[in-house]
Amino acid sequence: MAYNTLEVQTDERVRVIRLSRPEALNAFNRELMDELTDALKAADEDNQISAIVLTGSEKAFAAGADIKEMADKSFVEAYTEDFITANWEQASRTRKPLIAAVAGYALGGGCELAMMCDFIIAADNAKFGQPEITIGAIPGAGGTQRMAKFIGKAKAMDMCLTGRMMGAEEAERCGLVARIVPKAELMDTAMEAAKKIAGYSRPIAMMVKESVNRAFEVPLSEGVRFERRVFHSVFATQDQKEGMKAFVEKRQPNFKDA
Ligand code: CAA
Repeated sequence: MAYNTLEVQTDERVRVIRLSRPEALNAFNRELMDELTDALKAADEDNQISAIVLTGSEKAFAAGADIKEMADKSFVEAYTEDFITANWEQASRTRKPLIAAVAGYALGGGCELAMMCDFIIAADNAKFGQPEITIGAIPGAGGTQRMAKFIGKAKAMDMCLTGRMMGAEEAERCGLVARIVPKAELMDTAMEAAKKIAGYSRPIAMMVKESVNRAFEVPLSEGVRFERRVFHSVFATQDQKEGMKAFVEKRQPNFKDA
């Protein structure tokens, strides 16, 4: 399907979705969010795809919700259409591994979208922030919650209350991003990570993702129990048999996603 606000490509078993609304620094208007939801669903449902990379431009991953589009919205409109959440959660519902490759601004909804991904690889020019307070709003797509869980209360309060931006180094230091790379190497690094993941068994990678995400939903004892159940279930897969046999036979495994 052709999109107006996205560029979508497939490289081996990796789907790359690039936000492309340069005139507004990839701000999320309705069309972009509808298209992104569609593209993420399509990648998740495609049996040829094992990992997804979500990225923007060198200047902006995304500058947040489209302020011009939402400025005149009434409370009743926002409430009845469940503004933002209804159409923004697809990234967090995606079951295949999803990497955010972030260069430039990841602000407001852009930072929230990056946090919905499984991990963030940041270019050295990346800037993260939740500046909603500066325009008389608060984060509306999970920013206060995910940021508090991922980087702790002190940093989350600082970021959401002051509206300041955080550079890549601070973001890595506090655990918001997994790695920083020079801007020119961002996509190569993200693709290398995505292809590595896509080279493993798809169902097993999905189980890893589901289990790590569980840590953010339930108490430790429940999370550990959940992990153990999933661990037991890997023994029902052919890929576990193949992976362990290959180790014993000192060869590369040939996973079948089965
Ligand atoms: N919505 C709509 N348009 C936006 C936008 C946004 N969030 N961010 C940037 N743009 C537009 C600008 O209006 C400008 O368009 P025009 O040339 O037509 O005026 C164009 O993109 C380029 O932007 P700037 O000229 O401002 O570029 P800059 O380099 O000087 O500044 C910036 C970059 C610091 C990111 C600045 O654009 C900015 O502060 N943007 C808004 C960031 C923001 O507040 N985001 C939060 C939105 S609310 C939200 O996301 C709610 C939520 O939780 C989901």
